[in-house]
Amino acid sequence: MLQPQAGILPAPLRGGRYLYYRLRYGAEAAGALRSLTTEPWGAQDVLGLAATLVTRRGGEVEGLRSFPDLSDSQTAVPWTPHDLWVWVRADDIGAAMNLGRRLTEKLKAAFELVGASSAHLHGHDQDLSSYHDGTENPEPDEAPGVALIQSGPLQGGSFVAVQRWEHHLEHLEAKSQQEQDLVIGRRLVDDSEIEDPGAAAHIKRTEQESFEPEAHLLRRSLPFVEGFAYGLEFVCFASSLDAFEVQLRRMVGCEDGILDAIFSFSSAINGGYYFCPPVKEGPLDLSFLGAKFTEKGA
Ligand code: HEM
Repeated sequence: MLQPQAGILPAPLRGGRYLYYRLRYGAEAAGALRSLTTEPWGAQDVLGLAATLVTRRGGEVEGLRSFPDLSDSQTAVPWTPHDLWVWVRADDIGAAMNLGRRLTEKLKAAFELVGASSAHLHGHDQDLSSYHDGTENPEPDEAPGVALIQSGPLQGGSFVAVQRWEHHLEHLEAKSQQEQDLVIGRRLVDDSEIEDPGAAAHIKRTEQESFEPEAHLLRRSLPFVEGFAYGLEFVCFASSLDAFEVQLRRMVGCEDGILDAIFSFSSAINGGYYFCPPVKEGPLDLSFLGAKFTEKGA
């Protein structure tokens, strides 16, 4: 029976580490990945494989692709080619750090850790701007339908879009409270929706029901603080990458030339798409990559 990775549907824990790996030059990925299929995959964590890794191994995941080149946008939308993405979830950053170290050790013959960041809950699920993040997420009973592939050989798998946003809150704070609320389209004081906040408001750019077909996401973003930098590690799961992509295209003005007002205080500085394989009786199921990932010692 194929099941989703246990870290996808539940709300984030207080601490998290996002780890980015690249396949070492000339390395054979099968052995390192197979070690993940011989024991139960972390009860809290999520692992995603990039299109580069899947196709290099001769596998196929319908709908998995590289981050789009949005050269028709009103601003730069950078992305970074990594092969593996892992979200280690724990009750505190120290525990997440140690779980991540152990995983990196297991993968190190084939994968080099090339990026890492720490993220953690803020207040009551708030972005560092203090606005509540996740209000329009699906209810728990609807979340599997939004986040997971429902049928076929990849049932229980999920696509994840990941994007790091760096905030400059002084630009937001230079505005009146009313103007700040118009950036998001919601009132800070009670999270209520503003009826007509203008076309650039973030919730107007991303209003899930306004797309055809509707574009629903399970957002699981967390604030990060690192050195002088801070912002949001945007993470969303969906049964297809299309929902994120149509929203991002509208946010960056590809549809109508209007840039999301969120860019007035934050910039996207990297991004990536990954497929999160399902688990089968505990371990990750990588059978879509071919026999050598499932047969012990093959
Ligand atoms: C700096 C980065 C971002 C911040 C601070 C941010 C923050 C927020 C906030 C405060 C809300 C309103 C409350 C809620 O429904 O959660 C919201 C809504 C939403 N955001 Fe973002 N967001 C960011 C980036 C993105 C990106 C990159 C996407 C997708 C491409 C996105 C998709 C959505 C969606 C789908 C909603 C709900 C819209 C609806 O009402 O249906 N956000 N975001």
